[in-house]
Amino acid sequence: MKKLMTALFLSAVSLSAMAGGSIEKGKQLADKYTCFTCHGKDFNTPISPDYPKLAGQHKDYLEHALTAYKRGDGANGRNDGTMTLQVKALSQQDIKDLAAYLHSLPTTLVTHR
Ligand code: HEC
Repeated sequence: MKKLMTALFLSAVSLSAMAGGSIEKGKQLADKYTCFTCHGKDFNTPISPDYPKLAGQHKDYLEHALTAYKRGDGANGRNDGTMTLQVKALSQQDIKDLAAYLHSLPTTLVTHR
């Protein structure tokens, strides 16, 4: 019984980690797809001022934005040629993992109150 409870607990933990996105996997994906070549090594210093800073941005927002590039011309889609190419190979889980990783990074973004 105890073993069963432990197994159930562990599978619940790993499922919730999946649902929220994995920071570690997100880091691997960001390296693999070399997102930093445009968004900057620390994701705070993009190579051009009109490229967005991603470090510390809200997780749901990043997930939403990446999903919108995947939708492309569809409803609520984003139609940027550069990012459309970047998200092509990403699964919905990859997007969650990337969002979790980018959100976890120290940010220079500020909220004015
Ligand atoms: C070739 C340069 C380039 C690469 C590589 C690149 N991006 Fe981008 N990214 C851009 C540009 C330019 C924009 C702004 C596009 C727009 O106006 O919609 C952008 C926008 C974004 C946004 C939306 C941010 C916001 O605030 O709306 C996210 C999220 C993002 N990129 C994540 C990534 C991830 C994750 C990767 C790697 C898989 C990546 N980018 C690789 C150039 C790049």
